[in-house]
Amino acid sequence: MTVIKNINNEKKKDRMRVVCPNCRHLYNIDCTKLPVGRKVTFPCKACKEPINLDLRSKPATDDLSLPFRASKDNPAEGSLRSTPTPESKAKSRALKNAVLQDFMGVLPSMPQVVLKAQEVMSDPDSSFKELASVIATDQAISVRILKLANSAYYGLAGKVTSIGHASVLLGITILGEIVMMAGTSNMLSKTLKGYRVESEDMWRHSLAVGIGSRLIASRKAPELANDAFVAGLIHDSGKIMLDEHVLKRRKSFEECMKDGQQPFFEVEQRILGFDHSEIGAEVCKSWGIPEILTAAVRYHHYPSRSQDNDLAHIVHMADFLAIQSGMGTGIDSMQCQVEDKTMEYLNLQEGDYNSIKEKVVEYVEKITGQMNNS
Ligand SMILES: [Fe+2]
Ligand SMILES: [Fe+2]
Repeated sequence: MTVIKNINNEKKKDRMRVVCPNCRHLYNIDCTKLPVGRKVTFPCKACKEPINLDLRSKPATDDLSLPFRASKDNPAEGSLRSTPTPESKAKSRALKNAVLQDFMGVLPSMPQVVLKAQEVMSDPDSSFKELASVIATDQAISVRILKLANSAYYGLAGKVTSIGHASVLLGITILGEIVMMAGTSNMLSKTLKGYRVESEDMWRHSLAVGIGSRLIASRKAPELANDAFVAGLIHDSGKIMLDEHVLKRRKSFEECMKDGQQPFFEVEQRILGFDHSEIGAEVCKSWGIPEILTAAVRYHHYPSRSQDNDLAHIVHMADFLAIQSGMGTGIDSMQCQVEDKTMEYLNLQEGDYNSIKEKVVEYVEKITGQMNNS
Protein backbone atom coordinates (compact mmCIF):
# COMPACT_ATOMS: atom_id res chain seq x y z
CA MET A 1 0.00 0.00 0.00
CA THR A 2 1.26 3.46 -0.82
CA VAL A 3 1.69 5.41 2.37
CA ILE A 4 2.50 8.87 1.17
CA LYS A 5 2.13 10.01 -2.35
CA ASN A 6 4.41 12.70 -3.55
CA ILE A 7 2.16 15.28 -5.04
CA ASN A 8 3.37 18.06 -7.30
CA ASN A 9 3.12 21.43 -5.65
CA GLU A 10 0.47 22.73 -8.02
CA LYS A 11 -1.75 19.76 -7.19
CA LYS A 12 -0.89 19.67 -3.50
CA LYS A 13 -3.70 21.86 -2.25
CA ASP A 14 -6.33 19.73 -3.97
CA ARG A 15 -5.42 16.61 -2.02
CA MET A 16 -6.10 15.65 1.56
CA ARG A 17 -4.60 12.74 3.45
CA VAL A 18 -6.89 11.08 5.93
CA VAL A 19 -5.85 8.36 8.36
CA CYS A 20 -8.51 5.94 9.60
CA PRO A 21 -8.46 6.26 13.41
CA ASN A 22 -9.34 2.60 13.77
CA CYS A 23 -7.00 0.69 11.43
CA ARG A 24 -4.60 3.49 10.30
CA HIS A 25 -5.47 2.96 6.63
CA LEU A 26 -4.37 6.08 4.78
CA TYR A 27 -6.47 7.80 2.12
CA ASN A 28 -5.43 10.45 -0.37
CA ILE A 29 -8.64 12.28 -1.15
CA ASP A 30 -9.41 14.75 -3.92
CA CYS A 31 -10.68 17.79 -1.94
CA THR A 32 -12.48 19.24 -4.94
CA LYS A 33 -14.99 16.40 -4.60
CA LEU A 34 -15.71 17.09 -0.93
CA PRO A 35 -18.53 19.34 0.26
CA VAL A 36 -16.68 22.23 1.92
CA GLY A 37 -18.36 23.63 5.05
CA ARG A 38 -19.98 20.36 6.12
CA LYS A 39 -19.29 17.25 8.14
CA VAL A 40 -18.71 14.10 6.12
CA THR A 41 -18.78 10.46 7.21
CA PHE A 42 -17.64 7.53 5.12
CA PRO A 43 -16.84 3.90 5.93
CA CYS A 44 -13.19 2.86 5.92
CA LYS A 45 -12.85 0.39 3.09
CA ALA A 46 -10.24 -1.55 5.07
CA CYS A 47 -11.98 -1.98 8.45
CA LYS A 48 -15.51 -0.70 7.68
CA GLU A 49 -15.45 1.64 10.71
CA PRO A 50 -16.87 5.13 10.08
CA ILE A 51 -14.44 7.98 9.44
CA ASN A 52 -15.69 11.47 10.25
CA LEU A 53 -14.30 14.59 8.66
CA ASP A 54 -15.21 18.09 9.70
CA LEU A 55 -14.81 20.28 6.62
CA ARG A 56 -16.24 23.35 8.32
CA SER A 57 -12.71 24.49 9.07
CA LYS A 58 -9.33 23.65 7.57
CA PRO A 59 -6.46 22.11 9.53
CA ALA A 60 -3.97 24.59 10.97
CA THR A 61 -1.83 24.32 7.87
CA ASP A 62 -2.98 25.14 4.36
CA ASP A 63 -1.13 22.13 3.13
CA LEU A 64 -3.74 19.43 3.08
CA SER A 65 -1.36 16.84 1.78
CA LEU A 66 -0.36 15.79 5.30
CA PRO A 67 -2.06 12.97 7.12
CA PHE A 68 -5.18 14.58 8.55
CA ARG A 69 -6.51 13.52 11.93
CA ALA A 70 -9.96 12.07 11.90
CA SER A 71 -11.87 10.17 14.52
CA LYS A 72 -14.84 7.89 14.81
CA ASP A 73 -16.90 10.27 16.88
CA ASN A 74 -15.20 13.59 17.09
CA PRO A 75 -13.68 15.11 13.97
CA ALA A 76 -10.41 17.02 13.94
CA GLU A 77 -10.10 19.80 16.42
CA GLY A 78 -7.30 21.85 18.01
CA SER A 79 -4.83 20.63 20.57
CA LEU A 80 -6.42 19.83 23.90
CA ARG A 81 -3.30 20.83 25.79
CA SER A 82 -4.18 23.12 28.67
CA THR A 83 -2.08 26.08 29.77
CA PRO A 84 0.08 25.01 32.70
CA THR A 85 -0.30 26.92 35.96
CA PRO A 86 2.80 27.85 38.03
CA GLU A 87 1.86 25.03 40.43
CA SER A 88 1.57 22.40 37.72
CA LYS A 89 4.85 23.63 36.21
CA ALA A 90 6.63 23.20 39.54
CA LYS A 91 5.07 19.76 39.97
CA SER A 92 6.17 18.60 36.53
CA ARG A 93 9.69 19.98 37.12
CA ALA A 94 9.89 17.98 40.34
CA LEU A 95 8.65 14.83 38.60
CA LYS A 96 11.11 15.28 35.75
CA ASN A 97 14.00 15.61 38.21
CA ALA A 98 12.81 12.54 40.10
CA VAL A 99 12.62 10.50 36.87
CA LEU A 100 16.12 11.57 35.89
CA GLN A 101 17.58 10.96 39.31
CA ASP A 102 16.07 7.48 39.50
CA PHE A 103 17.61 6.66 36.22
CA MET A 104 21.03 8.21 36.81
CA GLY A 105 21.47 5.98 39.85
CA VAL A 106 21.34 2.86 37.70
CA LEU A 107 23.09 3.96 34.52
CA PRO A 108 24.21 0.80 32.72
CA SER A 109 27.86 0.37 31.74
CA MET A 110 26.80 0.04 28.13
CA PRO A 111 27.28 3.68 27.08
CA GLN A 112 31.09 3.41 26.94
CA VAL A 113 30.76 0.90 24.13
CA VAL A 114 27.96 2.85 22.50
CA LEU A 115 29.96 6.07 22.60
CA LYS A 116 33.02 4.40 21.14
CA ALA A 117 30.95 2.81 18.38
CA GLN A 118 29.36 6.17 17.64
CA GLU A 119 32.81 7.77 17.44
CA VAL A 120 34.00 5.06 15.09
CA MET A 121 30.98 5.44 12.86
CA SER A 122 31.37 9.20 12.60
CA ASP A 123 35.10 8.96 11.90
CA PRO A 124 36.00 6.23 9.41
CA ASP A 125 39.70 6.84 10.18
CA SER A 126 39.33 5.90 13.81
CA SER A 127 41.25 2.92 14.99
CA PHE A 128 39.82 -0.56 15.24
CA LYS A 129 42.16 -1.25 18.15
CA GLU A 130 40.46 1.36 20.34
CA LEU A 131 37.03 -0.07 19.58
CA ALA A 132 38.22 -3.63 20.10
CA SER A 133 39.70 -2.80 23.51
CA VAL A 134 36.38 -1.35 24.68
CA ILE A 135 34.47 -4.35 23.34
CA ALA A 136 36.85 -6.75 25.08
CA THR A 137 35.81 -5.38 28.48
CA ASP A 138 32.29 -6.71 28.04
CA GLN A 139 31.86 -10.40 27.34
CA ALA A 140 28.08 -10.26 26.95
CA ILE A 141 28.33 -7.53 24.34
CA SER A 142 31.08 -9.43 22.49
CA VAL A 143 28.76 -12.42 22.18
CA ARG A 144 25.91 -10.25 20.92
CA ILE A 145 28.23 -8.61 18.38
CA LEU A 146 29.17 -11.98 16.94
CA LYS A 147 25.52 -13.05 16.74
CA LEU A 148 24.62 -9.87 14.88
CA ALA A 149 27.63 -10.06 12.56
CA ASN A 150 26.49 -13.57 11.62
CA SER A 151 22.92 -12.48 10.90
CA ALA A 152 21.50 -13.16 7.45
CA TYR A 153 21.43 -9.44 6.74
CA TYR A 154 25.20 -9.16 6.32
CA GLY A 155 25.42 -12.34 4.22
CA LEU A 156 28.11 -13.93 6.40
CA ALA A 157 26.03 -16.40 8.39
CA GLY A 158 28.28 -18.66 10.43
CA LYS A 159 31.49 -17.18 9.02
CA VAL A 160 32.36 -14.52 11.59
CA THR A 161 34.30 -16.10 14.42
CA SER A 162 35.92 -13.14 16.20
CA ILE A 163 35.61 -9.38 16.55
CA GLY A 164 38.81 -8.91 14.53
CA HIS A 165 37.40 -11.14 11.83
CA ALA A 166 34.18 -9.09 11.80
CA SER A 167 36.12 -5.87 11.25
CA VAL A 168 37.99 -7.41 8.30
CA LEU A 169 34.89 -8.91 6.68
CA LEU A 170 32.43 -6.10 7.37
CA GLY A 171 34.59 -3.00 7.67
CA ILE A 172 34.93 -0.72 10.64
CA THR A 173 31.76 1.34 9.95
CA ILE A 174 29.43 -1.67 9.81
CA LEU A 175 31.17 -3.09 12.86
CA GLY A 176 30.45 0.23 14.61
CA GLU A 177 26.77 -0.15 13.67
CA ILE A 178 26.73 -3.68 15.04
CA VAL A 179 28.44 -2.65 18.27
CA MET A 180 25.87 0.12 18.63
CA MET A 181 23.04 -2.43 18.31
CA ALA A 182 24.73 -4.88 20.66
CA GLY A 183 25.28 -2.13 23.22
CA THR A 184 21.69 -0.91 23.19
CA SER A 185 19.73 -4.13 22.62
CA ASN A 186 19.31 -4.93 26.32
CA MET A 187 18.20 -1.43 27.19
CA LEU A 188 15.84 -1.20 24.21
CA SER A 189 14.34 -4.67 24.64
CA LYS A 190 12.17 -3.85 27.60
CA THR A 191 8.50 -4.58 28.03
CA LEU A 192 6.82 -1.23 28.63
CA LYS A 193 3.55 -1.82 30.43
CA GLY A 194 2.62 1.86 30.54
CA TYR A 195 3.05 2.19 26.79
CA ARG A 196 1.65 -1.31 26.21
CA VAL A 197 4.70 -2.45 24.28
CA GLU A 198 6.17 -5.93 24.31
CA SER A 199 9.97 -6.14 24.59
CA GLU A 200 10.50 -7.45 21.07
CA ASP A 201 8.27 -4.71 19.63
CA MET A 202 10.29 -1.98 21.33
CA TRP A 203 13.50 -3.46 19.93
CA ARG A 204 12.04 -3.94 16.44
CA HIS A 205 10.74 -0.38 16.43
CA SER A 206 14.15 0.98 17.48
CA LEU A 207 15.92 -1.04 14.79
CA ALA A 208 13.34 -0.01 12.18
CA VAL A 209 13.76 3.68 12.96
CA GLY A 210 17.56 3.30 13.06
CA ILE A 211 17.82 1.69 9.64
CA GLY A 212 15.00 3.84 8.20
CA SER A 213 16.86 6.97 9.32
CA ARG A 214 20.05 5.68 7.73
CA LEU A 215 18.26 4.97 4.44
CA ILE A 216 16.54 8.36 4.38
CA ALA A 217 19.80 10.15 5.22
CA SER A 218 21.67 8.32 2.49
CA ARG A 219 19.23 9.85 -0.01
CA LYS A 220 19.07 13.34 1.46
CA ALA A 221 22.31 13.92 3.37
CA PRO A 222 24.71 10.95 3.03
CA GLU A 223 27.19 12.54 5.43
CA LEU A 224 24.59 12.10 8.19
CA ALA A 225 23.87 8.43 7.50
CA ASN A 226 25.80 7.02 10.46
CA ASP A 227 24.54 9.63 12.91
CA ALA A 228 21.02 9.04 11.60
CA PHE A 229 21.28 5.34 12.40
CA VAL A 230 22.35 6.07 15.98
CA ALA A 231 19.73 8.78 16.54
CA GLY A 232 16.99 6.53 15.11
CA LEU A 233 18.06 3.60 17.23
CA ILE A 234 17.88 5.50 20.54
CA HIS A 235 15.12 8.01 19.68
CA ASP A 236 12.53 6.49 22.06
CA SER A 237 14.89 5.64 24.93
CA GLY A 238 13.05 8.17 27.11
CA LYS A 239 10.07 5.79 27.17
CA ILE A 240 12.06 3.32 29.21
CA MET A 241 12.54 5.93 31.93
CA LEU A 242 8.96 7.14 31.78
CA ASP A 243 7.15 3.84 31.55
CA GLU A 244 6.47 3.31 35.25
CA HIS A 245 5.20 6.89 35.56
CA VAL A 246 2.86 6.37 32.61
CA LEU A 247 1.68 3.09 34.13
CA LYS A 248 0.95 4.78 37.48
CA ARG A 249 -1.28 7.29 35.70
CA ARG A 250 -2.82 4.86 33.27
CA LYS A 251 -6.38 5.95 34.01
CA SER A 252 -5.60 9.59 33.27
CA PHE A 253 -3.85 8.61 30.05
CA GLU A 254 -6.77 6.47 28.95
CA GLU A 255 -9.18 9.27 29.75
CA CYS A 256 -7.17 11.76 27.69
CA MET A 257 -6.82 9.38 24.79
CA LYS A 258 -10.47 8.39 24.68
CA ASP A 259 -11.34 10.76 21.86
CA GLY A 260 -8.39 9.60 19.75
CA GLN A 261 -7.50 13.18 18.90
CA GLN A 262 -4.11 13.71 20.48
CA PRO A 263 -0.78 12.12 19.69
CA PHE A 264 0.60 10.24 22.67
CA PHE A 265 3.49 12.64 23.27
CA GLU A 266 0.98 15.49 23.69
CA VAL A 267 -0.88 13.44 26.26
CA GLU A 268 2.42 12.89 28.08
CA GLN A 269 3.00 16.65 28.07
CA ARG A 270 -0.49 17.27 29.34
CA ILE A 271 -0.38 14.76 32.18
CA LEU A 272 3.31 14.74 33.16
CA GLY A 273 4.31 18.21 31.96
CA PHE A 274 6.96 16.76 29.60
CA ASP A 275 7.26 13.92 27.12
CA HIS A 276 9.56 10.97 26.47
CA SER A 277 11.62 12.92 23.92
CA GLU A 278 12.63 15.44 26.60
CA ILE A 279 13.65 12.70 29.01
CA GLY A 280 15.46 10.82 26.22
CA ALA A 281 17.45 13.94 25.37
CA GLU A 282 18.43 14.50 29.01
CA VAL A 283 19.69 10.95 29.23
CA CYS A 284 21.65 11.33 25.96
CA LYS A 285 23.24 14.47 27.41
CA SER A 286 24.27 12.64 30.54
CA TRP A 287 25.88 9.94 28.39
CA GLY A 288 27.88 12.55 26.49
CA ILE A 289 26.09 11.75 23.20
CA PRO A 290 26.92 14.56 20.72
CA GLU A 291 24.57 17.53 20.67
CA ILE A 292 23.32 16.90 17.11
CA LEU A 293 22.06 13.44 18.11
CA THR A 294 20.63 14.68 21.40
CA ALA A 295 18.66 17.35 19.52
CA ALA A 296 17.34 14.76 17.06
CA VAL A 297 16.09 12.65 19.99
CA ARG A 298 14.63 15.76 21.64
CA TYR A 299 12.67 16.86 18.56
CA HIS A 300 11.80 13.59 16.86
CA HIS A 301 8.07 14.28 17.27
CA TYR A 302 8.12 17.95 16.25
CA PRO A 303 11.24 18.61 14.17
CA SER A 304 9.95 22.02 13.05
CA ARG A 305 10.80 23.29 16.57
CA SER A 306 14.39 22.10 16.30
CA GLN A 307 15.99 25.06 14.53
CA ASP A 308 16.54 23.05 11.39
CA ASN A 309 18.10 19.95 12.83
CA ASP A 310 18.21 17.75 9.71
CA LEU A 311 18.50 14.60 11.78
CA ALA A 312 15.29 15.43 13.66
CA HIS A 313 13.39 15.57 10.33
CA ILE A 314 14.99 12.31 9.22
CA VAL A 315 14.17 10.44 12.44
CA HIS A 316 10.65 11.92 12.45
CA MET A 317 9.96 10.47 9.00
CA ALA A 318 11.64 7.15 9.81
CA ASP A 319 9.45 6.86 12.92
CA PHE A 320 6.34 7.37 10.78
CA LEU A 321 7.47 4.84 8.15
CA ALA A 322 8.32 2.26 10.84
CA ILE A 323 4.78 2.59 12.22
CA GLN A 324 3.33 2.36 8.74
CA SER A 325 5.38 -0.81 8.17
CA GLY A 326 3.73 -2.45 11.18
CA MET A 327 6.63 -1.74 13.55
CA GLY A 328 5.07 0.78 15.86
CA THR A 329 5.05 0.80 19.63
CA GLY A 330 1.60 0.32 21.13
CA ILE A 331 -0.44 3.35 22.02
CA ASP A 332 2.34 5.73 20.98
CA SER A 333 1.57 4.83 17.36
CA MET A 334 -1.86 6.41 17.56
CA GLN A 335 -2.31 9.70 15.73
CA CYS A 336 1.13 9.58 14.22
CA GLN A 337 1.56 12.26 11.58
CA VAL A 338 4.34 13.80 9.54
CA GLU A 339 4.99 17.53 9.83
CA ASP A 340 4.77 19.42 6.53
CA LYS A 341 8.23 20.94 7.03
CA THR A 342 9.63 17.41 7.08
CA MET A 343 7.79 16.52 3.87
CA GLU A 344 9.20 19.64 2.21
CA TYR A 345 12.72 19.14 3.53
CA LEU A 346 12.99 15.47 2.55
CA ASN A 347 11.05 15.78 -0.70
CA LEU A 348 11.07 12.02 -1.16
CA GLN A 349 9.36 10.40 -4.13
CA GLU A 350 6.67 7.74 -3.88
CA GLY A 351 9.17 5.08 -4.94
CA ASP A 352 11.53 6.14 -2.14
CA TYR A 353 8.90 5.52 0.54
CA ASN A 354 8.08 2.08 -0.76
CA SER A 355 11.69 1.08 -1.17
CA ILE A 356 12.65 2.35 2.30
CA LYS A 357 9.76 0.47 3.90
CA GLU A 358 10.69 -2.76 2.12
CA LYS A 359 14.33 -2.46 3.16
CA VAL A 360 13.38 -1.63 6.75
CA VAL A 361 11.21 -4.74 7.02
CA GLU A 362 13.92 -6.95 5.50
CA TYR A 363 16.59 -5.53 7.81
CA VAL A 364 14.57 -5.96 10.98
CA GLU A 365 13.46 -9.50 10.06
CA LYS A 366 16.98 -10.65 9.29
CA ILE A 367 18.68 -8.99 12.26
CA THR A 368 16.11 -10.06 14.84
CA GLY A 369 15.83 -13.54 13.31
CA GLN A 370 19.49 -14.18 14.10
CA MET A 371 19.18 -12.77 17.63
CA ASN A 372 16.19 -15.02 18.33
CA ASN A 373 17.69 -18.16 16.83
CA SER A 374 21.09 -18.06 18.48
FE1 LIG B 1 8.78 8.85 20.22
FE1 LIG C 1 9.22 6.00 17.85
